Amino acid sequence: MSEFTVTETKANHVKIFDTTLRDGEQSPGASMSLGEKLQVAEILDGMGVDVIEAGFPIASNGDFEAVSEVAKTVKNAVVCGLARAGAKDIDRAAEAIVHAKRPRIHTFISTSPVHMKYKLQMEPDAVYEAVIASVTRARNHTDDVEWSAEDGTRTDFDFLCRCTEAAIKAGATTINIPDTVGYSVPEEYYALFQSLMERVPGADTVTFSTHCHNDLGMAVANSLAGVNAGARQIECTINGIGERAGNAALEEIVMAIKTRGDKLPYWTSIDSTYLTRASKLVSAVTSFPVQYNKAIVGKNAFAHESGIHQDGMLKHTETYEIMTPESVGVAATSLVMGKHSGRHAFREKLKELGYEMGDNAFADAFKRFKALADKKKHVYDEDIEALVDDEIGTADD
Ligand code: KIV
Ligand code: ZN
Repeated sequence: MSEFTVTETKANHVKIFDTTLRDGEQSPGASMSLGEKLQVAEILDGMGVDVIEAGFPIASNGDFEAVSEVAKTVKNAVVCGLARAGAKDIDRAAEAIVHAKRPRIHTFISTSPVHMKYKLQMEPDAVYEAVIASVTRARNHTDDVEWSAEDGTRTDFDFLCRCTEAAIKAGATTINIPDTVGYSVPEEYYALFQSLMERVPGADTVTFSTHCHNDLGMAVANSLAGVNAGARQIECTINGIGERAGNAALEEIVMAIKTRGDKLPYWTSIDSTYLTRASKLVSAVTSFPVQYNKAIVGKNAFAHESGIHQDGMLKHTETYEIMTPESVGVAATSLVMGKHSGRHAFREKLKELGYEMGDNAFADAFKRFKALADKKKHVYDEDIEALVDDEIGTADD
């Protein structure tokens, strides 16, 4: 595969903040038991995730317990608990993460006109005061505090700058600008980060973070645009699960950065060979199937059926694959036998199954295979074996 060597410096390191256990679990129907959350946290920590958002401790006793247990067991990653801007939320989050080796409180408040007016029913000045009070309170518990401007992409820019400056002055070390409703487009999200970092005093002392939802299918593209503008943390989830259409998918972010170092000169600390295992685990514990054509971890991501593609793959894998299956933890590419498959792939399949045939027998077997494939969605190895055994039997008669 064409690889681009990116010199790994602190400046071009992008932190991966996984929120599968918090935003991911907020997908309707995706709730996980304590044991399941611990399994997910273990694999996230093992693969090198920088920050694990383990839950929303004030939400329920179960959520509190989950955050607390994850905090006790995670060995390397920062463990983070989410809190609204109120004192009770923040104190509960602090209590839940107290045993973490590296604890973080993530506090947020909405800053957009529509959220302030209808959801919070608060005036902008009151929201501004709440930003200061919440970050100050969180800083009294830990020196790793993240502040989020919920619905940041639909927020008045001057007000966003004012709140961000206040959060930094109050001690926030990470500033997250969520595209809460997945409304932004990459150019716009890029410009937002660029202008914010230019305008806000103290911006160079904190880490900026992206948090993109996928309502228009642009969560990954938007996150990467944010990084191009200077953000150095991406919030994402395994399989892209999350509220409504989900969050940016961790596996897509990681492999985009790894594969396109020429255009995305960054690096993450993720061991990408864990990606398939993590995807399968999250799918199993949430009972959310992964779509077959899902980038990176879908069943078909490294499968080829058409004759032209199979022929290309047999000649050189770079013809139709831009990354190796091994790099994401898949054992091998699969050439799926179906009605689109060609002679070259069929001959390879026969070889793999241990059959050697002369040209005439092969031509007959191929004809029968095509006829079968036209009737059957999946042609399994056993079907081919039966068909060839039959062919050999006929030839013997
Ligand atoms: O989407 C969002 O705005 C969030 C915040 C709580 C960070 O999930
Ligand atoms: Zn979110």
